[in-house]
Amino acid sequence: MISRSTIDRVFETARVEEVIGEFVQLKKAGSNFKGLSPFVDEKSPSFMVSPVKQIWKDFSTGKGGNAISFLMEHEHYSYPEAIKWLAKKYNIEIEETEQTSEEKAQMNERESMFLVSSFARDYFHNTMLNSNLGKAIGLSYFKERGFTDETIKKFDLGYCIDEWDNFTKAALEKGYDLKYLASTGLTIVKENKQFDRFKGRVMFPIHSMSGRILGFGGRILTSDKKAAKYLNSPESDIYHKSKILYGIYQAKKEIAKQDNCFLVEGYTDVISFNQSGVENVVASSGTALTSDQIRLVNRLTKNITVLFDGDAAGIRASIRGIDLILEQGMNVKVVQFPDGEDPDSFAKAHSNAELKEYLENSAQDFINFKVSLLLKDSNNDPIKKASVIRDIVTSISKIPDSIQREVYIQECSRIMEISERVLFSELAQLLKKNLQERSKANKQKTQQQHRKQPSNPQQDPNEPPPEYFMQQESAQMGLVKVADSVSTQKVDQLAILENEIIRILLLFGNEEVEFTEEVVNVDENDKETIAIRKYLNTVSAEIYVHLHDDEIEFSNTTFQEIYNEIIHQLNQLEKVDIDGLINHKNTDIANTVTSILMDEEKHQLSNWEGQNIFVTGALEVLKKAVNDAVFNLRRVLIGEKIEELMKEATENSGVNIDLETIRNYTNLKMRLFEKLNRVV
Ligand code: CTP
Ligand code: MN
Repeated sequence: MISRSTIDRVFETARVEEVIGEFVQLKKAGSNFKGLSPFVDEKSPSFMVSPVKQIWKDFSTGKGGNAISFLMEHEHYSYPEAIKWLAKKYNIEIEETEQTSEEKAQMNERESMFLVSSFARDYFHNTMLNSNLGKAIGLSYFKERGFTDETIKKFDLGYCIDEWDNFTKAALEKGYDLKYLASTGLTIVKENKQFDRFKGRVMFPIHSMSGRILGFGGRILTSDKKAAKYLNSPESDIYHKSKILYGIYQAKKEIAKQDNCFLVEGYTDVISFNQSGVENVVASSGTALTSDQIRLVNRLTKNITVLFDGDAAGIRASIRGIDLILEQGMNVKVVQFPDGEDPDSFAKAHSNAELKEYLENSAQDFINFKVSLLLKDSNNDPIKKASVIRDIVTSISKIPDSIQREVYIQECSRIMEISERVLFSELAQLLKKNLQERSKANKQKTQQQHRKQPSNPQQDPNEPPPEYFMQQESAQMGLVKVADSVSTQKVDQLAILENEIIRILLLFGNEEVEFTEEVVNVDENDKETIAIRKYLNTVSAEIYVHLHDDEIEFSNTTFQEIYNEIIHQLNQLEKVDIDGLINHKNTDIANTVTSILMDEEKHQLSNWEGQNIFVTGALEVLKKAVNDAVFNLRRVLIGEKIEELMKEATENSGVNIDLETIRNYTNLKMRLFEKLNRVV
């Protein structure tokens, strides 16, 4: 592990504008820098860097953060990799921390396996390029397949000499421990004899997202029908076949840039495509696609194009992978190759331009593809056709976005010549089933999130949603921005309110404001009078007191984490420390905080000049904003609670209705509602 002090020194030294300047051309814009987004193709700049706050924001994609997160987004580095890159740039020596012996042992174990694997990659590669046997057998095989030197180098291809233990001997001589040669599967140990697993095979190293060697695929050179064509590393502490995609390391940049990923089956498909100039390609390595693998791609793009070989049996086997992709909210297209061709052979037989043209022109929407494929089977048999329809609607039901689902249902209705009504009712049933399954799993979670029951409280079914208040009241005073565009989707009320509280904490948390509260005095005759008490408090402390009193928790995990961190800071430093949040190790915290802060700077990009400019308000306004934010949040939470109780009551059809509690909540809600409307 990199020591805390090294990380601190990196943070102290690194300048976000210098780091980003290495990848993006930046121009001064007011107190900030602007440039073209490195994540999309665009003509007018939407990318912004703040040297004062030491953060960046890409308004095209919504990404943003500090120097570290830029490297993680742009170079797809892991956190330690980004720290190491910066340490190198700024000549900072990296200190490693002490670990417990258990941690060390575990770490060492995996580290040793990585070391051995990286040695093997180099050994196989060098053997192929430099030894006579390597050149005559391994290299000439790849040359025959048309792979260039550049390609061979890019994929670290190699050869394992056809002797019992040529590689193992070399590794042991270099001081590598047999234990790790065995646990990585490079060496097979049997009754005190050791031999090379991959003897006589050409080698395809399998890289992690960040380029470490996890395992190998080895291809046989003879056409021996009895031996497996490919032999792969066994599952181990570092190699999990179902969690990695072949080629992701070489493809990640291009996938993000093209905003699409081609998914093929084999090692050689990936390599041939690369050589033909299509670099955004990965392979599932001949096994069924898994959710973990899709997640790797999902980090880089929302679009996957699945490429199928000509043979129909293979397609039917892998079509289930498509539902998994849809489930993650990604868009799927499908390209089918002519009979008898796979991506590798097709790329070889055609020019680069022809390949690209084919990919573009024959890409089909998954639904059209599935319909045409399945209909071929059904031969107009009405029973089979019904099952095809059900199959397709099942796929559609996996799509999380309702608008997209609707579009697909319409499309399906058109192609299948069946009414939308029937399809929608089928869809509704499936969705209900999915929902029931999911809500079962979620139920406990939601229950934990619900808060303490307040002790008092009535009723207004016609009140406007909280956004209404936020926009009407605070926006006029220049504190809250009305949403730029009216979203067609239903906006999550809680998320808006929680975002507002975090925004106020970040921007004004350390401001001191004179707040007021109502104090009830009771005299000797039991007569109540209400007095107004004024007191000074920081905005952050005030918010804390209110939320704490109600034991409010945020529904959005990241907001809750930011809030916890701010409270931690208040305890330790007695103020909100923005830098600590921007540079937080938890990238969700860092990104969200950055986004909120950078949204305030957005107007400095010329395109937005003159729009959305808000002056931060006077203290009086701030005070009202704090009150409104807190009250609105409480009101919505209570509203939810009431709804939940009512629902429970209806479900139990009158048995055990806790009318008292519902009444209490409704009363409380009404009181808050009144308080909110009162002009302060
Ligand atoms: N595969 C495997 N073990 C096998 C056969 C195949 O692991 N015995 C995996 C490999 O990852 C292979 C992929 O499945 O790349 C696709 O198999 P196939 O199409 O048979 O191989 P190709 O990649 O096309 O290899 P080649 O072009 O060299 O025949
Ligand atoms: Mn092939």
